[in-house]
Amino acid sequence: MMRIDDAINPCDLVLFGCVGDLSLRKLFPALYHLQVAGLLHETTRIIGIARKDLDDTSFAAMVDSALRTHVAGEQFERHHCEALLKRISYLRLELTQVDDYRAVKKLLVTLSPTVIHYLATPPELYGTVCEHLHASDAISQGARIALEKPIGHDLESSRRINDIVSRYFDEQDIYRIDHYLGKETVQNLIALRFANNLFGSQWDQHHIDHVQITLAEEVGIEGRWGYYDQVGQMRDMVQNHLIQLLCMVAMDPPTQLSADSIRDEKLNVLRALRPITEKNVLRRSVRGQYRAGQIDGTACPGYLEEEGGRSDSDTETFVALRVNIDNWRWSGVPFYLRTGKRLADKVSEIVINYKSQRHYIFDPRHRSMVQNKLIIRLQPDEGIRLRVATKEQSLGQGMALQSRALDLDFGGGQKGRIPDAYERLLLELMRGNSSLFVRRDEIEASWEWCDNLIEAWHKSGDQPEPYAAGSWGPESADSLIAGRGRAWHQRIDS
Ligand code: BG6
Repeated sequence: MMRIDDAINPCDLVLFGCVGDLSLRKLFPALYHLQVAGLLHETTRIIGIARKDLDDTSFAAMVDSALRTHVAGEQFERHHCEALLKRISYLRLELTQVDDYRAVKKLLVTLSPTVIHYLATPPELYGTVCEHLHASDAISQGARIALEKPIGHDLESSRRINDIVSRYFDEQDIYRIDHYLGKETVQNLIALRFANNLFGSQWDQHHIDHVQITLAEEVGIEGRWGYYDQVGQMRDMVQNHLIQLLCMVAMDPPTQLSADSIRDEKLNVLRALRPITEKNVLRRSVRGQYRAGQIDGTACPGYLEEEGGRSDSDTETFVALRVNIDNWRWSGVPFYLRTGKRLADKVSEIVINYKSQRHYIFDPRHRSMVQNKLIIRLQPDEGIRLRVATKEQSLGQGMALQSRALDLDFGGGQKGRIPDAYERLLLELMRGNSSLFVRRDEIEASWEWCDNLIEAWHKSGDQPEPYAAGSWGPESADSLIAGRGRAWHQRIDS
């Protein structure tokens, strides 16, 4: 069993790509909050590495300005910021020049025994960085490596990357990041399912009619057209975040809370995913691409007219799927997944739709009230809500039913802020707890399933269906789920 150390370990962070968007927008603010919470060891140092011509002072100024921008005003405190900046230094390095890595080797003498190499660089450089670190003897005993998504573009390329990285780091020291696994409510799923017999005992085909998972965003592709057009929503959101959530919802109870027990169970789900093939791809999936529209009263251009866009692209910005898991627990229970850019709202949620009572004794007009729904909201308004049927409170109505919600509000109702996913991930990385990170076999099983689906789209000649920015996606996504009284959950009925 993996040792999970709750203590705050002495360790140092070597951050490759320290001036990139991810570092400045997410990682440094997360480190700031860990600093505030007293969760960084007193000796922990952060060494930023990039090719930009900076020194310690100018880099610190850059981090300072990023913190002022990305940490909410009421949470920004000068002395915490200064304490974090004291830990930070900068090393200028050309990532493709092996000779430059001598400086990393030199640095190791001054660092603690546990060094974390965090690669916030384009994935094409993962192999090069590992090779050069090794060639310069800059990988110390017990060093860890953290890799951002995407790991590859398909199964073959992800294997290539994994092969190189695993030449120099043991699997237990490789931390593949999927930031959705660091979200507080995703973690709460484990507690909800495995600490509550009420839910745990009803989590199967006998009690659940179907499951929906929605990851909807209002933003478009945020100036990343060149990158996004190569990947599309399938590789950007489905292969990783959506599939990881599916695994968290569908996995069997792990025998213990160890990293490998959890990841073994997720892998079993991936292996049981029924392939979507050329034969059924048009019935089981919908691809969409947004056209011009309006979100919150603001006009948005269509995908093809976005900055840097090309008018002949058939890249999807929306995907909806009907997925089956061929195992005992989920036989006959469809999982409906959807994710898209420029949708009507930013919302990530999992909705468990329970079967109705077989023997029904109430007014037939109220039948829809007796379908229980468990809504797990990841963002915004993090919380869990259970819809239950109750009697309408009035003398005149006899036994009229109404649907009411039992509510657990993690945001507004409890004091304090909800930590960002990267705070949790950085903390667990420093503690050496891999359970929130993705194992190699999981990534590869997920790519294998997605590659089949992408190939089925190509073979079938499927073209993305247009949808207006600000809508809930193409009409076919509604038809995909329709029938047997099913429809996508609307926030309004939560
Ligand atoms: C990233 C994708 O992994 O997740 C982005 O590359 C997407 O396209 C983002 O916008 C969504 O993350 P979150 O946490 O804002 O839902």
